[in-house]
Amino acid sequence: MSENKIIDGKIVSAEIRKKVKELGGELIKNTGKTPGLAVVLVGDNPASRVYVKNKIEKTKEVGFNSIEHKLDEKVTEKELIKIVDKLNEDLNVQGILVQLPLPNHINSDKILDRIKPEKDVDGFHAQNVGKLWSGLTSLVPCTPLGCSILVKKISKDLSGKNAVIIGRSNIVGKPMAALLLEMNATVTICHSRTRDIETVCKDADILVAAVGIPEMVKSSWIKDGAVIIDVGINRIEREEKKILVGDVDYNECLDKCSKITPVPGGVGPMTIACLLLNTLLASYPQFGEQTPDLSSILE
Ligand code: GUN
Repeated sequence: MSENKIIDGKIVSAEIRKKVKELGGELIKNTGKTPGLAVVLVGDNPASRVYVKNKIEKTKEVGFNSIEHKLDEKVTEKELIKIVDKLNEDLNVQGILVQLPLPNHINSDKILDRIKPEKDVDGFHAQNVGKLWSGLTSLVPCTPLGCSILVKKISKDLSGKNAVIIGRSNIVGKPMAALLLEMNATVTICHSRTRDIETVCKDADILVAAVGIPEMVKSSWIKDGAVIIDVGINRIEREEKKILVGDVDYNECLDKCSKITPVPGGVGPMTIACLLLNTLLASYPQFGEQTPDLSSILE
């Protein structure tokens, strides 16, 4: 009964977007103001272009305004800072997202920290990172937030459970650790310098793979009954066809796990839904409104 094992991110993300649209509609009616999400894309990284296109489409679908800045690869750091400063002051913009990666001549940390924390819908600003790790309310990075919502569909409390994350990025691995810790899991982060990753993973009741290496996690790495969250989106060629695969060898691991997110259709759609959720969450205080109880979405 492998269908029962699949965590369908398409269904959960559609529910979130529906709720965001409903609540957003009420907010617009009550205040006469529409939440606006500004997306800044530098250069023409093909994957980033696809992500940004999807983000813009979905933003419009929930009834929010989309503000787009597509900039040349050669834009200077100074020019980019000027754009961020303008968006920070723009009353029509409640959320700002600068798509990563940025070209090498631009210091990403400097740009991300320039975004006003209250408009930082990516949750990458040092103030939001600090709040997350302190257990305070903050804007939380979209991909790990989406993963945590999927895990909560299975179990809200991870007391006594081992969670292992492969990957220590600021975008996924580190914030994911904070969220799993908040759910009472015992958390381990593995990375390229970890000795014997396989043995560490074998101990995981919840395994989150976020490394960007196609099908790295094999069934021999998995504990019987583990919950697998696959964050990887890797484009590979197989039998002369271009396909998407995760960081987990899905076909191998399906038998052994109790639950698994597919690629595509698992974590991917959750990221965009959570971006819209964050845009809504960022909008309430900026419009002078009380944030309603969103625990029905977040749990
Ligand atoms: N690049 C890959 N993932 C992300 C993300 O969640 N936010 C931004 N801004 N860039 C990304």
